[in-house]
Amino acid sequence: MDAEEIGVKDIDDRGMTTITTKKQKDLYNMITTSKKYKNCYLKHSYRAIKSKKNTVAYVILDGKPRILKWFAPGFTRQMETEYSTLKKGSSALNMPISYEKDSDNNVLLMNYVMGENLCDVINDEKTVFSENQRIMVLLAGWFARFHRSFKTADQFHIRGDSVLRNFILADCIWGVDFEESRVGKPVEDIAGMCSSILSTDPMFTSEKFQLCKTFIASYVESVKWNLENINEEVAYALLEKIQWRPEVEETLRNHAHKIRKHGLLR
Ligand SMILES: Nc1ncnc2c1ncn2[C@@H]1O[C@H](COP(=O)(O)OP(=O)(O)O)[C@@H](O)[C@H]1O
Ligand SMILES: [Mg+2]
Repeated sequence: MDAEEIGVKDIDDRGMTTITTKKQKDLYNMITTSKKYKNCYLKHSYRAIKSKKNTVAYVILDGKPRILKWFAPGFTRQMETEYSTLKKGSSALNMPISYEKDSDNNVLLMNYVMGENLCDVINDEKTVFSENQRIMVLLAGWFARFHRSFKTADQFHIRGDSVLRNFILADCIWGVDFEESRVGKPVEDIAGMCSSILSTDPMFTSEKFQLCKTFIASYVESVKWNLENINEEVAYALLEKIQWRPEVEETLRNHAHKIRKHGLLR
């Protein structure tokens, strides 16, 4: 059967969700052929979930809304990292609870955080500047708590993959996607966030620089350690993005160069 011909019954009975991509077809096949997911329905909105490499779906499993994260083949280690990070962090921090690690299918099941993706909120022209500033303070608080809570006597643990897309705004900020969590320096997370804020559309506006300033200042105020070489780290994080976004290479290079030379907090 062609991918286009597969229809998935929506739990709300509001119509059929048509499967159009290979990822969606594979997910549909996995769910329908696995005994474990016989009571699992794909919600119509799952196509809206943008994900980089894994297949992430909003599903109803045994009558409950869940996020099903199906890791790409060869990403078992990332699944283990995400599962253990969620297990450690979710009771004290705003991170989803992972109910189950299904190693047979390479799937993590977690609770669904209802809210808006932070990347969409920050970059929506309808979001006023003062609201974005307020969000920066919340985001800095989230990072301060994460770093404090995962810190050991001799090392820090960072969330990794610090980009706007990996946060959800509800009544507070929630972090998702912890597969790249690792030992590292807090400045790597903070710089990653700044580079994401600056380089998502609209790119490098003066408002975006202001937001980074608020974010960094608020983080530094809430923690007992310093951020070393933040400008250098932001420049590096921007250059790293070139591999994913070659079409804006020149813009990224120019701004990385300026930030390295003159600093971010202009
Ligand atoms: N528990 C969750 N609740 C609500 N939305 C989620 C949840 N987990 C992930 N998402 C959404 O799905 C997207 C992709 O999930 P993510 O774990 O980031 O996958 P990837 O590793 O492929 O980037 C996220 O950017 C977020 O918008
Ligand atoms: Mg992600």
